[in-house]
Amino acid sequence: TLVNVDGAIVPPAEARVSVFDRGFLYGDSVYEVIRTYGGAPFELDHHLARLAHSAERIGLALPWDADRTARELGRTLDAARAAGGDPPSDPGAAPWNVGEWYARVVMTRGAGEIGLDPALAVDPTAVVIVQPLQGPPARAYADGVKVVVVGVRHEAPAVVDPSAKTGAHLNHVLAVREARARGAHEALLLDDRGFVTEGSSSNVFAVLGGRLRTPPLAAGILEGVTRGVVLRIARAEGVAVDETSVRPEDLERAEEVFITSTMREIVPVTRLGERAVGAGRPGPVTERLHRAFRRLAG
Ligand code: PDD
Repeated sequence: TLVNVDGAIVPPAEARVSVFDRGFLYGDSVYEVIRTYGGAPFELDHHLARLAHSAERIGLALPWDADRTARELGRTLDAARAAGGDPPSDPGAAPWNVGEWYARVVMTRGAGEIGLDPALAVDPTAVVIVQPLQGPPARAYADGVKVVVVGVRHEAPAVVDPSAKTGAHLNHVLAVREARARGAHEALLLDDRGFVTEGSSSNVFAVLGGRLRTPPLAAGILEGVTRGVVLRIARAEGVAVDETSVRPEDLERAEEVFITSTMREIVPVTRLGERAVGAGRPGPVTERLHRAFRRLAG
């Protein structure tokens, strides 16, 4: 693991930001999680565009432009490779998760006098954390995972724009806490009208009558980069796609359910709470889309 703090690459123990940093005090920050394939960041342009979108939504002036961010990420990846050689591989790892890197890019509004007023921040902070990728194990893809619909509600779009990937994620932290207590891999959050929105760190899809269904962006969800790739692949594969609202009952009667995220690609969901999804095994549409994803990501 190596950390780039405002352009200086240091070991984790030396990576420091101020306790007055608003990222720490208020979650007043934006971030991206990016992974590599063959050592190269995947869909980097989309991640950088979303970072800019998130910053714009909360009026945060990014300390680095997209080119600089890409350069600093590249430098940090190079340094991590040089320092540690290839990351060690876990015997249970899926082959596409071996020898790859995880990168977290965090930009905060910076430190200043304590107080909510954003104008108190003087100097934004930029951090890039690079570490060996720890993706889901091969078992998660082969057997599927359990997810639960949690009691914690999704952030209402009127409160914090969920299309902005900000550091203020307490409801998602509590959602994962609840999911873990119920033995689940991921938490699905409902909005205040009871519609399915997204996972704590994933987007959700269902196969219903052979058609692929996922909540629309208007549901106030994060526009997942992986979600976008999956929609593209599905259309190219001739799978009909509906971006329409999803209720928990739709998931219960779905033939297949899966979740997507940068770190997971496409992970089949075979248990929804205490019930099996479909046949209780990863389904054919999920497997077909994942094969197509694998061909694309390499
Ligand atoms: N999170 N929805 C939420 C709320 C997320 O936090 C994420 C990703 C996604 C999936 O987006 P993408 O396909 O771009 O990774 C959906 C990152 C991975 C994280 O916080 O770890």
